[in-house]
Amino acid sequence: MEATRRDFLGFALGGMGIVGALGVLYPVVKTLAPSAASTTEAKVEIDPEKVPEMGIRVTSWKGKPLFVIKLPEGFEGKHNYDVKDTFNDAGKLNQDLFKGKRVFALIGVCTHLGCIPLWKPEGDSDLPEPHLHCPCHGGLYTPWGDVIGGPPPRPLWVPPQKLEGGRLIVGEPGFVERLV
Ligand code: FES
Repeated sequence: MEATRRDFLGFALGGMGIVGALGVLYPVVKTLAPSAASTTEAKVEIDPEKVPEMGIRVTSWKGKPLFVIKLPEGFEGKHNYDVKDTFNDAGKLNQDLFKGKRVFALIGVCTHLGCIPLWKPEGDSDLPEPHLHCPCHGGLYTPWGDVIGGPPPRPLWVPPQKLEGGRLIVGEPGFVERLV
């Protein structure tokens, strides 16, 4: 009888654990789930009209999550971030690569240990400004992927990209020449 009760408790707790784990995994899987535009090809085309203002579109490029972010007109002048002195492989802040661009793409993988950052367009209790927040160890990035806080050693990676015919093309050199 004792064994049966223990078995039951074991099943019940195990079941709760699985449900809990699924609850935690679901947002990650949902974030990674490919959209209609997803591809593992080297070139991805995005129609900026389909990205909501102050929104993010998640797709993939070369098997990595790709964040396409669209900022409102004048965003840059209205928001000042206290960024860390960490630079991309071009020796710049990402924000400098994206000067004058309202739509751009970032690799959506935290440069600390590879978690998927979350887009916080309204900010949160850690930072009231729009930002990307890596929940694993508290990494904070500007919308351009520059490091504001936490352990990330460098900005989010930026793939080559250009604007052509009103579309953002990721995987071809343009205003970003190469992966940096
Ligand atoms: S993996 Fe993002 S802060 Fe550690």
